[in-house]
Amino acid sequence: MSDSTLSHQPQNPGVSPDLGEQHDVTELHAALLREKPEPKEGFEPLNLWLVALTGGLLFWGGYYLANFSGRFEASEYSEFPRGKATVAAPAETPEQKTLRIGAQLYVNCAACHLADGTGNPALNIPPLAGSDWVVAEGANRIIRIVLHGLNGPVKVNGQVWQGNAMNPWRKTAENPSGLTDEETAAVLSYVRNSWGNKASFVTTDEVKAVSEATKDRSDAWTEAELLQVPLKGGADAPAPAALDLAGLKGQLEKLSADDRKKLLETLQAK
Ligand code: HEC
Repeated sequence: MSDSTLSHQPQNPGVSPDLGEQHDVTELHAALLREKPEPKEGFEPLNLWLVALTGGLLFWGGYYLANFSGRFEASEYSEFPRGKATVAAPAETPEQKTLRIGAQLYVNCAACHLADGTGNPALNIPPLAGSDWVVAEGANRIIRIVLHGLNGPVKVNGQVWQGNAMNPWRKTAENPSGLTDEETAAVLSYVRNSWGNKASFVTTDEVKAVSEATKDRSDAWTEAELLQVPLKGGADAPAPAALDLAGLKGQLEKLSADDRKKLLETLQAK
């Protein structure tokens, strides 16, 4: 083996590396200059444009979510949202609204007359369900009962109740937790149309008129006094509708001959 084979010289006979003068140094170094050092992790300075771009994107993303996320509800943009009624509930009628408010106010009465209006015999509290006072043709008397209260014996559906009294509900300076005219109308409308009761609604104007006509009163009513009050109409109520002569004739014809005679006699006596 020759020396040249043993040494780690390029197999380039006649050229010795020591004779580098033959090579262009600049050319040799160019390779070194071309190669960049291996990148390594560390605290490299960040590109400021990248920082600005990332910040801008984050800001835009937040803005977009805040405005268009639909409160993060999956069904927000669904045409037929799950778990929600697809048909809008029909709007509440004025009557339904009155009954709803009346029902809420009835908790005041339920303390005594009970939630189902059956009254409380153990405490001498008469029923409202089916009561002839409650479903009477007009509300003149029951408006007075609620405004000022009721005391003494009272006959409800033929049964006499006594030993307990009902408190006044009219809202006054002394009774600030009472009911306004509007609330009295609502609660009486509810009472007149619950638990099988069926009677006309009580209007705020009706209550106002009675309230005005009895504003100086502070005592509770007695049954005898209330029976003097016409069920409907009266000076403080709107004028009654014109007489329906044909209807009246029909009703008179239904009377027995005896009753008709008696009626005519009383009318002639006046
Ligand atoms: C503190 C208990 C009490 C409360 C509260 C009360 N009542 Fe009464 N109510 C009575 C009593 C007792 C009578 C019977 C009074 C009597 O015997 O003279 C009565 C009688 C009545 C009557 C006439 C009799 C009948 O049974 O139909 C009506 C109508 C009535 N109450 C409605 C109401 C309404 C409406 C409310 C709520 C705004 C109400 N009451 C709240 C105790 C109460």
